[in-house]
Amino acid sequence: MSKKFIYSIVLSFMALISIFTFSSMNGSTVKAASKTSSNKVLVVYYSNSGTTEAAAKRIQKQTGGDLVKLKLSPNYPSDYNKLTKVAKRQIDKNIHPKILNKIMMNKYKTVLLGFPTWYQRPPMFINTFFNKYNLKNKTVVPFTTSMSSPMKVNRPYLKKMARGKKINLQSGFRANSAKKTTKYLKNNNLMK
Ligand SMILES: Cc1cc2nc3c(=O)[nH]c(=O)nc-3n(C[C@H](O)[C@H](O)[C@H](O)COP(=O)(O)O)c2cc1C
Repeated sequence: MSKKFIYSIVLSFMALISIFTFSSMNGSTVKAASKTSSNKVLVVYYSNSGTTEAAAKRIQKQTGGDLVKLKLSPNYPSDYNKLTKVAKRQIDKNIHPKILNKIMMNKYKTVLLGFPTWYQRPPMFINTFFNKYNLKNKTVVPFTTSMSSPMKVNRPYLKKMARGKKINLQSGFRANSAKKTTKYLKNNNLMK
């Protein structure tokens, strides 16, 4: 047997092994994808003056998720001065406003939760959100809009709200900038 012949047999054998490995890998990828067919995304948010709403709508388009605006009771005033008073009072008195939406949370694996930063923290209805809905085993990605406060001011509050609930709480992001939003979504595999 010539060296050339042995060499070509070895090469064909290696090619066969790699084809086999690749096709079985592909099979497991398909299986994994069908297992997570309930891997739907929910973009749920509250916005008083429209900034968080604009961000949520962009995020909905990019993730292909369902979009839900939270309905609160009592609703917040749109007048800025009145709003500041109501929001501050809720913090001081530990008031958790009601959320009226019925959301079929079992449809979703990932929940993007958007809110404006108020007084260096999430608004008090975010407490209600974590108590009202069953978020067990879900990934929750918070996003905020603010005048200047970074997302990180909200984190200690969110961590406390999620504690003991088996929620996969992500660090989240400030969504004022479309560019930074896209970067976060891409880096975290959230683009559709
Ligand atoms: C009651 C209240 C408190 C606020 N506190 C902060 C704050 O602590 N830091 C900040 O950067 N912006 C603060 N802002 C500004 C809002 O976070 C910002 O305008 C936000 O984008 C509004 O979102 P929206 O238009 O979706 O309601 C506050 C606004 C209000 C009404």
